[in-house]
Amino acid sequence: MKRTDRIFIAGHRGLVGSAILRRLAAGGFDNLLLAGRSELDLRDQAAVDAFFARQRPEYVFLAAARVGGIDANRTFPADFLRDNLQIQTNVIDSAWRHGAAKLLFLGSSCMYPRAARQPIRECELLTGPLEPTNEAYAIAKLAGLKLCQAYRRQYGFLAIAAIPTNLYGPGDNFDLATSHVLPALIRRFHEARTAGRREVVVWGTGTPRREFLHVDDLADACLFLMQTHESGQLINVGWGEDVSISELASLIADLVGFKGRISFDATKPDGTPRKLLDTRRARGLGWQPRIPLRQGVESTYAWYLANQGGIRAVG
Ligand SMILES: NC(=O)c1ccc[n+]([C@@H]2O[C@H](COP(=O)([O-])OP(=O)(O)OC[C@H]3O[C@@H](n4cnc5c(N)ncnc54)[C@H](OP(=O)(O)O)[C@@H]3O)[C@@H](O)[C@H]2O)c1
Repeated sequence: MKRTDRIFIAGHRGLVGSAILRRLAAGGFDNLLLAGRSELDLRDQAAVDAFFARQRPEYVFLAAARVGGIDANRTFPADFLRDNLQIQTNVIDSAWRHGAAKLLFLGSSCMYPRAARQPIRECELLTGPLEPTNEAYAIAKLAGLKLCQAYRRQYGFLAIAAIPTNLYGPGDNFDLATSHVLPALIRRFHEARTAGRREVVVWGTGTPRREFLHVDDLADACLFLMQTHESGQLINVGWGEDVSISELASLIADLVGFKGRISFDATKPDGTPRKLLDTRRARGLGWQPRIPLRQGVESTYAWYLANQGGIRAVG
C-alpha cells in the first residue's frame, strides 16, 4: 500500500476507525476517503455501490459495525444481526466489484465459542456454541469472515481478517446504556468521585477475566497487516495477558481517584468466564502491542475528561 493510494476507512468516526485514521495520517497516507453515516448509510446497498463506483478505493479498512455491550446486544439482537450483515456484505461486495486491491475485515473475540480453550487460538473458531448474550452479533461477524474467505476462494479477492480482543482508548463510547465494560467503569468511578459517593456497584461477580488492547495498538496492527499479510490465515490481535473485572475496577478506581468501596452485583450477567486471545501468530509475523493497560487507561481517562461535553451516545 503506497502513501498515495486511495484508502477507504469505513466507520472512521468510531473507536477503531478514528484510530486507523490517526495511524494512517501519521504514516503519511494522505489519499483517505471518508464518509460519515449521514453521507453514506452502509446498510444501503445502492448507496454503497454508488460510492465505490465513484471513489474506487484501492484499500478498504472495514471498521464500521453496529457495536455495543452486553445489555445492548441482549436488547437489540435483530438490529445487531441485520445491520452488521448488511454493512459488511455491502462493503465487501462493492470493494470486490469495483476493483479494490485489498480489504481488511475486523472480527471480534466474541466470535469464538464460549468454552474455547484459553488462550484462544485461531483454530478454535466454530468449534462450539457461542456466548448467548452476544450471539446475534457474533453470528454476523462469523458470516462476515466467511464472506471474506468465500470471495477470496471464488473470486480471488484479497480480503484478510483480524480478530481483535476487547478494545479501549480515545473516542470510546462512554454511554452507560451501550458501552463496553472499561469505558463504563471509567465513567462510573469518575461520576462517583465527583459526586462524593462512597460506593460503586460493578455489574457481575467481578471474577470474569478479560484482555484489553489500546485501540492505537490495534490501528498499528491493521496497518501492519494491510501492508504485509496476504494469506487467508486469520490473525488474533491482543495484548496477550488478561485481568479480572475486579482487578480492572481497582485499577480504574485508583487512576480516577475514587477512594470508596467497590462492590459487585452478582444478579447482572457476567458473560464469558474468560477471554484471552493467543497472539503468537501476530507476534510471529513481526507485530506486537506497545501500550500497557495502566498507561492506556490513564490516557483514556484524560481523553474522557477533555471530551465529556462531546461524548457520543450510540443507539
Ligand atoms: N470496540 C471493541 O472493543 C472491539 C473489539 C473487537 C472488535 N471490534 C470491531 O471493530 C470494529 C469497529 O468497532 P468500534 O468499537 O470502532 O465501534 P464504534 O466505535 O461503534 O464505531 C463503529 C463505526 O461504524 C459506523 N457505523 C455504524 N453503522 C453504520 C451505518 N449504518 N452506516 C455508516 N456507518 C455506520 C459508526 O458511525 P457513527 O459514528 O455515525 O455511529 C461508527 O463510526 C467492529 O467491526 C467491531 O466488531 C471492536
